[in-house]
Amino acid sequence: MPPAPRPFCAVDFGTSNSAIAVPTPEAGLSLVELEPGQVTMPTAVFYRVEGLANHEPPERVYGRPGLAAYLEGQEGRLMRSMKSILGSTLASQSTDVGEGRAVRYLDVVTGYLQHLKSLAERRTQAPLERAVLGRPVFFVDGDPQRDAQAQQTLADAAHAAGWRELSFQYEPIAAALDYEQGIDHEALVLVADIGGGTSDFSLVRVGPQRRTRLDRKDDILANHGVHLAGTDFDRHVELAGILPLCGYRGLGPARADGAAPREVPSRVYFDLATWHLINTVYTAPRVAELRRMKGFYGDPQHHQRLLRVVEDRLGHALLGRAEEAKIAVAEGGATHIDLGLLEPGLRVGFDATQALAALDADLERIAEAVDVTLRMAGTPPEAVNVVYFTGGSTGFSPLTRRLAARVPTARVVHGDRNASVGLGLGLHARRLFQ
Ligand SMILES: Nc1ncnc2c1ncn2[C@@H]1O[C@H](COP(=O)(O)OP(=O)(O)OP(=O)(O)O)[C@@H](O)[C@H]1O
Ligand SMILES: [Mg+2]
Repeated sequence: MPPAPRPFCAVDFGTSNSAIAVPTPEAGLSLVELEPGQVTMPTAVFYRVEGLANHEPPERVYGRPGLAAYLEGQEGRLMRSMKSILGSTLASQSTDVGEGRAVRYLDVVTGYLQHLKSLAERRTQAPLERAVLGRPVFFVDGDPQRDAQAQQTLADAAHAAGWRELSFQYEPIAAALDYEQGIDHEALVLVADIGGGTSDFSLVRVGPQRRTRLDRKDDILANHGVHLAGTDFDRHVELAGILPLCGYRGLGPARADGAAPREVPSRVYFDLATWHLINTVYTAPRVAELRRMKGFYGDPQHHQRLLRVVEDRLGHALLGRAEEAKIAVAEGGATHIDLGLLEPGLRVGFDATQALAALDADLERIAEAVDVTLRMAGTPPEAVNVVYFTGGSTGFSPLTRRLAARVPTARVVHGDRNASVGLGLGLHARRLFQ
């Protein structure tokens, strides 16, 4: 009798959300329940120091409970968008998670992966030593060396988390493998995986006769992507809809010489609107500097609100409000953004037209990536049979409409926005390891 195959897993380590697939007797392959009723978990960890003595290490609270603890105002530090750190010089650096406790960014990633692994092992009841890890087409745009370094950093973190045998697969290829499961004829598919950090495209030939092959190189006509997706949308929505109330693009006081007032310095707003830079605004020297900048503001209320944001550490909460507003108008309509945390009773309207204006340039750049993908393959748009959407940001209908318009004769298929990549990575892992 051949030896029983050793179990394996597949990890979709996303910028915003992560998932892990394992083989299961009942379904063949399933995503592991990571939180009650949820097969995806926010890629977030809260380092809680609340109530701890100075020498005690911080407690790590993962996923939704971590976000909740942070938003409740518990003492500690929230780490998000860890995947964006992989391609930057931050990966090897340390950061303070509270009261002088330093943690290396790489260890943050390792800890998160270890947590996913242990949840998967609870399900398989066996140690998982082999894994396929998903990767975006580019971790870093236009810099192959840094891109390779980012994958190596992720591999290092995965080894440190306890996996021994690792293999990488592109996230959009994984989505194509998942789509391929459900079809009974050959098709040329443009996969569009628009997530939190990257918008990735693959042009893939799929079909029932092809799905058992391990080597799919000949079926992959092109792979392309841009480092622009949902978290950039949140940033632009916050800059357009929320931060003007705190002075972004506001004007300074009238000048004695009658010259036009200057615009308020904008760097702090860009930092506040970028997940992994928010914490840099809270350091004592930075806060002191912002306090001294009162004279730059024509409207003192704007300055007061900005100070409120940095002193009360409201950056992540505000960016969360921007994300909620984006999702609320993703299919059209209007919403209100509640900013009571800044000032009692403060709220501001936001609608789909404003969202489109704020995101137009982003959407165009993403759509251009479709054209590049087709050019790379030497394929005319009319040859594409299906455009397959996955990733959370494909809930934003102006985006999917614009992408679909680039391949006007293709049939539009909306896959499972959250599960397709994870399950597809699982299919690839099964072919590789079983
Ligand atoms: N209904 C919706 N409309 C628009 N955007 C949405 C919707 N639901 C979720 N999103 C956005 O989708 C993004 C997360 O998508 P997803 O979970 O696919 O990303 P990820 O896999 O973590 O990121 P990546 O693959 O880029 O590393 C977030 O920016 C979130 O705001
Ligand atoms: Mg993803």
